Amino acid sequence: MSESYTEIEARVGALIAGIDDDIAIMATIACELFHSVERFHWVGFYRVTAPQMLLIGPYQGGHGCLSIPFARGVCGKCARDKKTVIVDDVEAFEGHIACASSTRSEIVVPVFGKDGTLIAVLDVDSDDPAAFDEADAAALERMCGAAFSV
Ligand code: SME
Repeated sequence: MSESYTEIEARVGALIAGIDDDIAIMATIACELFHSVERFHWVGFYRVTAPQMLLIGPYQGGHGCLSIPFARGVCGKCARDKKTVIVDDVEAFEGHIACASSTRSEIVVPVFGKDGTLIAVLDVDSDDPAAFDEADAAALERMCGAAFSV
């Protein structure tokens, strides 16, 4: 059984206390989420490193594609709209970028920095269909907000 978000958030909070480095925080969150939640089969960040462009950041799981323009994929839609995207069936999402053929569903959450600008997106993929819901969205948004926006 997977751990609750409350436990994961408490552990992440303790681990990153006093750390003011986005990459270190991203690596810690990716590791904690990937190893704590069984239905999470890929967890990683894509960082905004150039206008309209996402570049792979810290992740856990198989290889992720290296760069994603804002115009493409679920990650691009999240970056464009600055809103969480939940995809129950990746095959039904036009333009989905398949990094692993086993992926069935995913959630992508926008990550904002202290000044409120978009600095990255957090992408979580599952081999299970419809693995994500509003509770995941709320918890992941809260976790990223606490880690990067304050
Ligand atoms: N599926 C994502 C691409 C990233 S990988 O899944 C790790 C997308 O469509 O944006």
